[in-house]
Amino acid sequence: MVNNMKNNDKRKNAAFKQNKLDELFSKLKKQLDDLNFFSKYWEKQRLYINHAYSIESSKKLFNVENFDSLLTSGSLMNPHLDIVENGSKMESLYTNSPSPTTDVLDVLNRYKTGATIRVPHIELFMPDLQLYCKSLENYFGIPIRANLYMTPPFSQGFQPHFDLDDILVFQAHGKKIWSCHTSYSNSQPLPNRDMTFNESLHRSTGIPDEIELNQGDMLYLPRGFMHEARTEEQDSIHITFAFIGNYLGELMQQMIRAKSIEDVSFRNLIRVPQKVNDEFILDQFKLFQSEFKKLNDKKLLINSLNYVKHSFDKHRNPQLKGGLMAILNNEN
Ligand SMILES: [Fe+2]
Repeated sequence: MVNNMKNNDKRKNAAFKQNKLDELFSKLKKQLDDLNFFSKYWEKQRLYINHAYSIESSKKLFNVENFDSLLTSGSLMNPHLDIVENGSKMESLYTNSPSPTTDVLDVLNRYKTGATIRVPHIELFMPDLQLYCKSLENYFGIPIRANLYMTPPFSQGFQPHFDLDDILVFQAHGKKIWSCHTSYSNSQPLPNRDMTFNESLHRSTGIPDEIELNQGDMLYLPRGFMHEARTEEQDSIHITFAFIGNYLGELMQQMIRAKSIEDVSFRNLIRVPQKVNDEFILDQFKLFQSEFKKLNDKKLLINSLNYVKHSFDKHRNPQLKGGLMAILNNEN
């Protein structure tokens, strides 16, 4: 009886938490829908959402005290904690015990002298952020990872660069100034993950727009948009929700992989002559044209889409909190 009451309370708490996060997500969704986000901004241009959340609401999504407990526990370790000093990533030090933990004093001291603290996949350690990520993933149809960046006053973690994922930035605490470069040399729209930023190739050619992100503000930046961010008199904590989906080209690669299993002609070795002459190229082109037609197959497309969907579904654990207790209490 007592157990049942406790379980009911737990379920109510879990439902309350889910509702709180649903409410927060719905607020963002409404703003994006009202702005016609997918037709106007998605993979096209940046979007600054002033007051996406009130300060009170933003605290529901990210609580600094909870983050303090997590960071100071010492349990955040590489690859879930790194320190950026003078634009380079440094590993944090570990305490000298049989089971090392992060030397938190060292991390905090480095922060005080200008280093940025980065926590990749912060959602794995903060359940509210994980629920929020799940709502974002359902809405966008793309796997999402949350990375936290904490920067002390009058500092800049990274030099100008572009990211290889579309990002949605949430200013969780304090203030940060983002400089968004309007143009740069050798730019290509929507770079993929092989097209990394190269500071000698990609140089700003215009005057950047400055956007001040205050607590509760959000900023969407498509990949390939050059930017840098700095703090002024306030500390800053921001969370970057990064979209880590599959490109159309990757779906086509999956179709070719699947076709190769069922069709032997896709598995023929290519014999390259000593000299690649016009005759060889013409033969290969004819072959390519006849084989390529085989990819125009709806069933193959559906199977490959299901493969992408399956890897999306598998990328995150389902919400299993209480699952162990259910086993221990012999619940069904
Ligand atoms: Fe960035």
